[in-house]
Amino acid sequence: MFRLRRYRYYVFFAAIVVFLLYRVAQNSEQWETVSASFPHAAPPSKPQLPPTSKSSADIQVDTSFKGISSEDDDLPQRVLDNTGKDSSAAKIPDLKNTQQADGKEDDAGFEHPPKTDTTIKEAGVLAYDHDEAAKAITPPIINVPDKSVGQGAKDAENKPVNPAATAVHWKKVPEHFSVPASEIIPLPTGKPKKIPTIQYAFGKESPESRELREARQQQVKAEMERGWAGYWKYARGHDELSPVSKKFRDPFCGWAATLVDSLDTLWIMGMEEEFKEALSEVEKIDFTIGKRPEIPVFETTIRYLGGLIAAYDVSGGKSGGYDILLEKAIELAEILMGVFDTPNRMPVLYYNWKPNFASQPRRAATNAGVAELGSLAMEFTRLAQITKENKYYDAVARITDAFYEWQESGTSVPGIFPEHVDASGCNSTAQRELEAAQDAAEAEAEANDETDSDSILDVGAAADDDNQLDLESDVKPKNQHDIPGKAKSSVLKRSGKSSALNLNVVKKKNPKTGKIELIAGERILPECVSQGLTSAGWGAEHYSMGGSQDSTYEYFPKQWLLLGGLEPKYKELHLKVSEAVKKWLLFRPMVPDDRDILFSAKLTTSGEPETDANKQYEVTHLTCFIGGMFGMGGKIFEVPADVEIGKKLTEGCVWAYESTPTGIMPEGAHVLPCPDAKSCHWNQTLYEQTLDPAFESRDEQVEEYRKRKAKARIAVEKAKEEKQSAEDLAPSTRKIGRPKKPSPGEEPLENSQLGHDNARVQKRAPISDEDLEDDATESRPIKDKKAKISAADDDLDDSDPAPGFKKSAIGQVPLQDDEDTDEHDPLQPLSHKEWVANKIKSEKLPKGFVDVTWKSYILRPEAIESVWYMYRITGDKKWQDEGWKMFEAIVRHTTTEAGNSAIDNVLSTNPRQSDEMESFWTAETLKYFYLLYSEPNVISLDHWVLNTEAHPFKRPKAPFGV
Ligand SMILES: *[C@@H]1O[C@H](CO)[C@@H](O)[C@H](O)[C@H]1NC(C)=O
Ligand SMILES: *[C@@H]1O[C@H](CO)[C@@H](O)[C@H](O)[C@H]1NC(C)=O
Repeated sequence: MFRLRRYRYYVFFAAIVVFLLYRVAQNSEQWETVSASFPHAAPPSKPQLPPTSKSSADIQVDTSFKGISSEDDDLPQRVLDNTGKDSSAAKIPDLKNTQQADGKEDDAGFEHPPKTDTTIKEAGVLAYDHDEAAKAITPPIINVPDKSVGQGAKDAENKPVNPAATAVHWKKVPEHFSVPASEIIPLPTGKPKKIPTIQYAFGKESPESRELREARQQQVKAEMERGWAGYWKYARGHDELSPVSKKFRDPFCGWAATLVDSLDTLWIMGMEEEFKEALSEVEKIDFTIGKRPEIPVFETTIRYLGGLIAAYDVSGGKSGGYDILLEKAIELAEILMGVFDTPNRMPVLYYNWKPNFASQPRRAATNAGVAELGSLAMEFTRLAQITKENKYYDAVARITDAFYEWQESGTSVPGIFPEHVDASGCNSTAQRELEAAQDAAEAEAEANDETDSDSILDVGAAADDDNQLDLESDVKPKNQHDIPGKAKSSVLKRSGKSSALNLNVVKKKNPKTGKIELIAGERILPECVSQGLTSAGWGAEHYSMGGSQDSTYEYFPKQWLLLGGLEPKYKELHLKVSEAVKKWLLFRPMVPDDRDILFSAKLTTSGEPETDANKQYEVTHLTCFIGGMFGMGGKIFEVPADVEIGKKLTEGCVWAYESTPTGIMPEGAHVLPCPDAKSCHWNQTLYEQTLDPAFESRDEQVEEYRKRKAKARIAVEKAKEEKQSAEDLAPSTRKIGRPKKPSPGEEPLENSQLGHDNARVQKRAPISDEDLEDDATESRPIKDKKAKISAADDDLDDSDPAPGFKKSAIGQVPLQDDEDTDEHDPLQPLSHKEWVANKIKSEKLPKGFVDVTWKSYILRPEAIESVWYMYRITGDKKWQDEGWKMFEAIVRHTTTEAGNSAIDNVLSTNPRQSDEMESFWTAETLKYFYLLYSEPNVISLDHWVLNTEAHPFKRPKAPFGV
C-alpha cells in the first residue's frame, strides 16, 4: 500500500508539473524544486540569468569556495532544517522514479542516439535525451547583438529575473553514504606498463605533401577562427552560439559550454591570444549557480570537466601557469562529487544541485543510460592524478568495478551491457516479496498489540539522539519522499513492530564488492535488497555501440592507457567487449560497389539472443567512433585483426558520407546486411525487394488487374457481338455468356486458359453477388493479398507519401467498375519495380540505403574522429584525402556568417540550416580535422589520450613500446 501511495504521488505530481511548468512563474523556489525532480519535464528556460560576463558583476556570488576541504561545519544542521521545512519535497518522487518513467519512452524503432549527446542532443526520443528534450521546448532565447550594450537589461525585459531565484547557490552538504577514508580506492601505483605504440612511425614528409597538408590545415583553422569570433561576439559566456540568428542558448546550465569545450582547441591551433582572453571568461564562471534545476552529469563531466582538465594539460599543467583551469575543474568536481552519495555509490545522473535537494539521501536511477554511467571515468581519474586526491578515482573506480562484476556474472549478450541499467542497487523483485511478507506481519502485529508503536517511536528517537543518523540514512532511502529527521518516525509509525528491528541493522563490508552494505538483523526486513548493476525493467534489452552506450565502451581502453596499464580490469573489459561486438553486432552491408566495409548493428533480445535476437542493421553517425576504438584497442592490446576491423568500420562511415547528395552522412539510417560477409555482391533484385516487402503480392496484383481489365474488354466486345448475334440470329436458347472467339488482342490469355476459364471471364464481367460466390475460392486470396498490400502501403506511405500516387491506388482493384476501366486507368496499381523507383525518388534514398530515419547532420565528430585515428595508426595518406572530402562537404553546407550550423537534411541538395552549433563542433570536429593535417607529433596518441569530447589528457610517462 505504501508503494501504491508512492506511485499515486508520482502520477499526481507529474500531471501537475507538466501542467504548471509553463504557467507558474519559474522563479518560485518551491516550484523550481518540484520541477527539479522531473528532469524531462523540467523547463530548461529558467529565468535568464544575466550572463556571466563583465556586465553581470553585480550578481553577488559566493566566491568563498575553498576547493576540496569541507568547512561547512554549520551546514548540516541548517540543511536539515531547510529540508524539514520544505514539506512539499517530502512527497516528491525521487529522481529514480522519474528516470524510470522516462525510460518508457524508449521504443522499439530507431532510436536516436545520444552521446556527446549521448543523452542529450537528440530530440527527446529517448530516455537519455534529456537535453534535446529540454532544447526542444526551450523558447527562443532573446537576441543579444552586442554584449556591451546592456544585455542584462534586455534579458530582464523579456524574462524578469527573480533575485531570490538567482540567490540559490550550490553548497556542500554532508554526505549520507560517505566512504570511510580507509576504504577509498586509491589510484593504482607502480611503474606504468610498457604499452605498444599506437601511432605509425611516420617518416620524413615531402615538400609537396607538406604544402598540401598545411594548406588544408589553414582552412580548418579558418573555420575555427570564424566560429570562435562568432561565439565571442554573439554568445560569449553562454553555452552555444545560434549561428544563423546570431543569438545564444544555454542548454548546459549556462556555464559557457562552448567556451570551456574549446579551450584546448584554441591552444592546439595556436590561437593563444583567444585562449588567454577566454580564460578571463573562465574565471567568471560560477558553477554554484545553474540555469537548470538539475545538472546533466554526463554532459557536464565530458564537456566542462574534461575541457578544463585538458586545457590545463595541453597548456603545460602546473608549469603552464594557468592555475585557474585546475581551480575551476576542482570547483566543478566538488559539486559533481555529490552525485556519488548514494548507498551503493552509483551516481545520480541528473543532479538536483540545490541544497534542499542535494542534502537529501537518494539512490541512483533504476533506469540509467549505460553511456552516462560509464563515461565519467577518465575525467575523474585524470583529476585524481593531477590533484593526487584518490577520492575522485574512488568515485569512478566503483562504477568500473560494478561493470566488471556485471560482465563477469553475465548479461544476456555476454561481454556487453544493455542500454538501460538499473543502478539503484536494489533488487525490486526481492523487495516486493519482502514487503508483502512485511505487510502480512504488520497486520498480524497490529491485531495482536496496539500499544506497541508508541514505545517503538521512542526507540527511534533515541537512535537519533545517539547520533545514528548515518545508520538511519542507510536504511531510509526506500522512502525517498521522507525527509531526514522525520523519515524515521514515519517509517516507524508505518511499520509498527518490525521497525524496532531497524536497530538490528548492521553495516558490513561485502567481501566481494568491497562495498558497505546493510545487513539485516534476524527478523528485519531490509529496506533494500542489495544487488549490483542489472538490466533495467523487464522488457526487451537493446545492445549496440550507438548513442547512450558508446562511450562506456570507448573508455575501457582509454582508461587503461590513462592508468599506464596498471589496472588490468580495463583490458579485460575491453577485450570481452570486442569479442562480443564481433560475434553479435558487426555486419557487412551490401553496397553498390561491393566495398568491404563494416557497421555495428543494434540487437534486441528478451534474454535469449541465440534464439530471439532481432537485429537492426543501423548506420548511425554516433557509432562511427567505433573504428577508432577498434583501431586503438587493436594496437595497445596487440590484436592486429581488430585494427583491420577498425579500418573497415571507418570505411563504412566514409562510404556513408560519400553516398548522399550533400556528401554528409545522416544521423541515422538502415542498410542491408550481406548474406555472406566474405563474398558479397550487389544484388539489385534483393535490394529492391528489401525496399518493398510487399513485392510479391504487388506484382500479382498488377497481373490480376490486367487480367480483369482484359476480361472486361472481352465482355464489352461480347456484349456487342451478342447484341449483333441477337439481331442476326433472332431468339436463341443459348445462355448468355458462353464464350465466343476471343478477340485477337486477348490471344495469349485465351491460349493459356482455355475452356472453363473463359466461362468465368464471361461471368466476371458484369459482376453480381452470385458471381462472387461462385468465385469464392478464387477471390478470397485476392482479397487477402489486397489487405496485405494496403497494410504495407500504409506503413510506407505514412512515412513519406509518394507524390502523384494516391495511397489507395496501389491496392485498389476496381471490381465494380470493370466496364469503365479504360477511362479510369490511373488506378492501375504500381508494379514492384515502379513502386521501388517511386520510393527511391520521393525519399531521395541513396543507393544501398534501405531507409534514412534521421536525415540531419548536427556537426558531429565521430566519423572524422575515426578517420584521424586511422591516419595516425596506419600513416596512410588516403585517410587525409577522405577526411578532406568530408571537410569540404560539411563546410559547403553548414557555413554561416558567424559560424557553422547543423542542417536538417543531408539528402537534400539544399538543406536548411537549423541554427544550432553544438559545442562539440569547435571542441571535437574541428579539432580532429585540424589534427588530421597536423604533424603527427601534435597530440600524439602515444602521449595523449582523448576523452569522448576530444579532450586530450596527458598519459603517464612510461616506457612506450618503441
Ligand atoms: C532479485 O531477487 C529475485 C527474487 O529474490 C532473485 O530471483 C533474483 O536473482 C535477484 N536478482 C539479482 C540481480 O540479484
Ligand atoms: C539476388 O536476390 C534474389 C532475391 O533474393 C535471389 O533470388 C537471387 O538469387 C540473387 N542473385 C544472386 C546473383 O545472388
